[in-house]
Amino acid sequence: MTSHSLALLGFGNVGRALAGLLQQKRGELQLRYGIEWKITGVASRRLGWLADPAGLDVSSLLAGAVPAPNLHRSSLHYGGVSKSPISNYQDWLSASHATVLFENTSLDPQAGQPALDYIRAALGRGTHVVTANKGPLVHGYHELRDLAARNHVRFLFEATVMGGAPIFSLFREALPAVELRRFRGILNSTTNLMLSEMEAGLTFEQAVKSAQDLGIAETDPSADVDGWDAAVKVSALATVLMDVRLSPQQVQRVGIRDLSPRAVQAARAEGRPYKLVCQAERGAAGQVSASVLPQQIALDDPLASVRGASSIITFELDTLHGLTLKEEEPNAATTAYGPFADFITIAS
Ligand SMILES: NC(=O)c1ccc[n+]([C@@H]2O[C@H](COP(=O)([O-])OP(=O)(O)OC[C@H]3O[C@@H](n4cnc5c(N)ncnc54)[C@H](OP(=O)(O)O)[C@@H]3O)[C@@H](O)[C@H]2O)c1
Repeated sequence: MTSHSLALLGFGNVGRALAGLLQQKRGELQLRYGIEWKITGVASRRLGWLADPAGLDVSSLLAGAVPAPNLHRSSLHYGGVSKSPISNYQDWLSASHATVLFENTSLDPQAGQPALDYIRAALGRGTHVVTANKGPLVHGYHELRDLAARNHVRFLFEATVMGGAPIFSLFREALPAVELRRFRGILNSTTNLMLSEMEAGLTFEQAVKSAQDLGIAETDPSADVDGWDAAVKVSALATVLMDVRLSPQQVQRVGIRDLSPRAVQAARAEGRPYKLVCQAERGAAGQVSASVLPQQIALDDPLASVRGASSIITFELDTLHGLTLKEEEPNAATTAYGPFADFITIAS
């Protein structure tokens, strides 16, 4: 048996779904993988820094029964000795005795902060890190990868692109010595759903509302509509799988804001529907160019089969000419499978 103390930084949709999945599969982890775990730290802006090396009552936290911060903090233990309330990240990480940090805070596409600093500090002290947050990946991948290696820990991030679908682990573990020449995909649920809704007759504003009602678009949908979310994902994939430094700002980017429902419907009627296509390609000189663009595609293109909130990616490798992965209707629960699988990789 290996035993892990887990610290969850960010306890929103993904953090909570992850805690639920860990609970649900506790028996299987013990029996099949010899892994035991307890959650010894949970933190968010609203919760504050909760830690107990003996293990927090996760069912109560999931049920919303958050311990009153002062009451809880006054009973915190550092190696059995009560001390003053925890007021910062470093103390929280120490108090939780974490062996694995799950970093699931909100995305900052411009700089990846403060997640980048949090992950850097955890790796620096020899704690494994798993994140679903694309920000630190696109702004610090090479540094964090090397820092993890120097400290003999893992930095894993499966859920950052296409949630629970195995992309990074596929390349790491099942595709040795391949050269990725090109990838194309549909990686943003909101815009793909909006295009489907506009094809069905909704206005742009109604399509935004439809995505918001399903919980996949934010109150301000501009990051999706203007292609920023997709550009961050293209940057993450190119950075890791093609080993280049390509920031989201370097991805050529046009969103779907200027597409009228009439144009979208006409394109579908013509048999060449519009999709927001994500792409990156290595040129003859070794440079990588990347884009997020609304494009009309043929119906026999694998990308044309993806409707609604689903995602798809197709890889062209030197060894395999077309390898396609499609994920139907991703959500926070399916995303949580990414960090869950990363945890098994670490603990095994
Ligand atoms: N939802 C998905 O399906 C999905 C899919 C792939 C990747 N992701 C990525 O996964 C991450 C989490 O997504 P989510 O849907 O769980 O978001 P969410 O529901 O908004 O939760 C974010 C959590 O992070 C906390 N947080 C934000 N900034 C913080 C800070 N500076 N310090 C401490 N805590 C902070 C929030 O605390 P408060 O609530 O107290 O503010 C909240 O608990 C994001 O980076 C997202 O891009 C999500």
